[in-house]
Amino acid sequence: MLVSLFICPLCQSPLIPAADTWRCDGSLNPKQTAHPFDVARQGYVNLLPVQQKKSKAPGDSQQSIEARQRFLNAGHYQSLNDLICQKMAELLSLEKVKTNQKGQPINWLDIGCGEGYYTQPMAQTGMDTLIAADISKPAVLELAKVSKALGRLWYQKPEDGAAKTTAIYPLVTSAAYLPLRTHSLTGISSIFSPILPEAFNEVLSDAGYLIIAKPDIEHLATMREALFDDVREHDSDKFLQALSPYFKLLDRYRVSTELTLSAEDLADLLTMTPYAYRARSEKRQALLAKVATTPFTTEAKFIVYILQKITAQ
Ligand SMILES: C[S@@+](CC[C@H](N)C(=O)[O-])C[C@H]1O[C@@H](n2cnc3c(N)ncnc32)[C@H](O)[C@@H]1O
Ligand SMILES: [Zn+2]
Repeated sequence: MLVSLFICPLCQSPLIPAADTWRCDGSLNPKQTAHPFDVARQGYVNLLPVQQKKSKAPGDSQQSIEARQRFLNAGHYQSLNDLICQKMAELLSLEKVKTNQKGQPINWLDIGCGEGYYTQPMAQTGMDTLIAADISKPAVLELAKVSKALGRLWYQKPEDGAAKTTAIYPLVTSAAYLPLRTHSLTGISSIFSPILPEAFNEVLSDAGYLIIAKPDIEHLATMREALFDDVREHDSDKFLQALSPYFKLLDRYRVSTELTLSAEDLADLLTMTPYAYRARSEKRQALLAKVATTPFTTEAKFIVYILQKITAQ
């Protein structure tokens, strides 16, 4: 049996990447036949079988992806991006010393990567392989297009003489059914994305890392006050309980940044912020009308957790 980083989402046999079509070797399939998965023109692979889809178009919609892309590319959350990548680079430089001794590659998964605002700079923090996975096809397609333009896709070779770069594998997949070999990853990041303790534990190697970013208490407080009569606080820490059988918390960092938003920025922020849909339409309109004349200020507050897999003794 071949050792591959990927496994078939249908029969769990090793799945072998190739430029046109990925195929499993069928070794764990009772019928012993191979399952094929085509590589899209943009360079991503759809490993989400229909039976794992809970709706026709799961994950973020094209509209919310476009709004988020405009908002993030304007640099409003740059300080968070910098912090995540700095912490990741620190972990990976420690890890390199260890893995180089064992001669193993550093594989990282960014789960719920969206269109890749955080994923692209992550690719410069020193891993060998970066799996960019999301259940939303339009998000992964966008991420693949950008990766291809930057020459970072898994099948693109560095130019002659150029240093080896991180290979990005854009995959459409559910976090609940990761098509990855057990214990194959050095780390996982989940940036405002699903957290599945058991699934993450399964694919991480011993002492593997988990980086989680979440909104902190009072994130966008003035915006939420303008939208809701009763502002419910983000319960930042609740998920740690669910992770505790598998992970220990190493560190937590807070980042906050004052935002001055134009009407367009605010409209994009409302579109990309799921709870904003729950606001009453009059409140939403009143806020947008106010911002049409004066920029709106609010504070974004984030918390970044660094966890490590507890290794069984
Ligand atoms: C709030 S967005 C964050 C995107 C990106 N990390 C960012 O911060 O810009 C959450 C992402 O998780 C994806 N997602 C939701 N459920 C998922 C699941 N079960 N498996 C994989 N991705 C999922 C959505 O499609 C969406 O792109
Ligand atoms: Zn298969």
